[in-house]
Amino acid sequence: MEPVVWLGDGIEIVDQTRLPWEEVCLRLSTCQEVAAAINEMRVRGAPVIGIAAAYGIALGARSIEAPDKESFLADLSRMAEMLACTRPTAVNLFKAIDRMLSAAGGGGDAATIKASLVAEAEAIHAEERAATRSISRLGAELIRDGSTIITHCNAGPLATGGYGTALGVIIEAKRQDKAIAVLATETRPLLQGARLTMWELMREGIPVTLITDSMAGHFINRGDVDCALVGADRIAANGDVANKIGTYALAVLARENGVPFYVAAPTSTIDLSLASGDGIPIEQRRPDEVTLIRGMSIAPQGAPAANPAFDVTPHRYVSAIVTDRGILREPYVSTIPRVLSRASTTGG
Ligand code: MRU
Repeated sequence: MEPVVWLGDGIEIVDQTRLPWEEVCLRLSTCQEVAAAINEMRVRGAPVIGIAAAYGIALGARSIEAPDKESFLADLSRMAEMLACTRPTAVNLFKAIDRMLSAAGGGGDAATIKASLVAEAEAIHAEERAATRSISRLGAELIRDGSTIITHCNAGPLATGGYGTALGVIIEAKRQDKAIAVLATETRPLLQGARLTMWELMREGIPVTLITDSMAGHFINRGDVDCALVGADRIAANGDVANKIGTYALAVLARENGVPFYVAAPTSTIDLSLASGDGIPIEQRRPDEVTLIRGMSIAPQGAPAANPAFDVTPHRYVSAIVTDRGILREPYVSTIPRVLSRASTTGG
């Protein structure tokens, strides 16, 4: 199932808040609708947030009827700002917005620019899809026959387009006839693991068992896990990784128990402008996402709750980062720039 499809005058998205109970597609035809869908996490996962935002700008551009290029670009940059306010952690969002604004700054009249923005959004989409193919193939080399892999949140096709990053590696390992099994953490508070990873892996026929986040240590410590494999929302220049809240705890558990901890992410998720993870903005979401589960209260009325949506795993816990351009290991501060300077194998 494609998380985002360009329709020519809008996009169709799978409403990921309604999975796995209902498979509902929504048609979005304005930049405002796209921004709301990203903010409400109807579309989610770092690469797909970038793809949706790019189409959002292309759709926004079509609605602008400015008298001259200067006011056209001013209107477009207001739309870009609206999109930039939706979700601060995934760097793919900001890279996609910057790319779209650069494309808009190219020559030509408004009609030419509008057409070039659609082409640029489609290029971003195609590059992200291709990147997942490379990541899946490269990452599968790390997965030994007979492995049990623990994963957190959802880094599958729904989050990326294409094959997925962490789940793409798992799906590719299965296609190579490796006997693998997966432990999927439920991923509180919004249950992307229980709802989306379970849905995707069960559809692929991959043996997967759902556990609560708090069970991870038990299974890792018993020797039931051969490696941990997760996605990323932003990777700093030193290899520090921001990913779904709970990833850091999983990485520490993996290290304590001598289990490799792998991150799979496209090079578009690397942010060389940040020297370390200390500078990564952490999205703070509404407390009621913690105090309610599907509308039902699980805490006393008025209970205060914290809801940071991501955490940062220091690079020393990361055994390898699988990108579309190669598998990186320490010292990330030199291997990351080296791989980024390498020509893309995906066209990205
Ligand atoms: O808040 P979400 O559901 O958008 O968070 C998603 C994750 O943390 C994923 O692991 C990450 O975006 C990688 S997606 C390939």
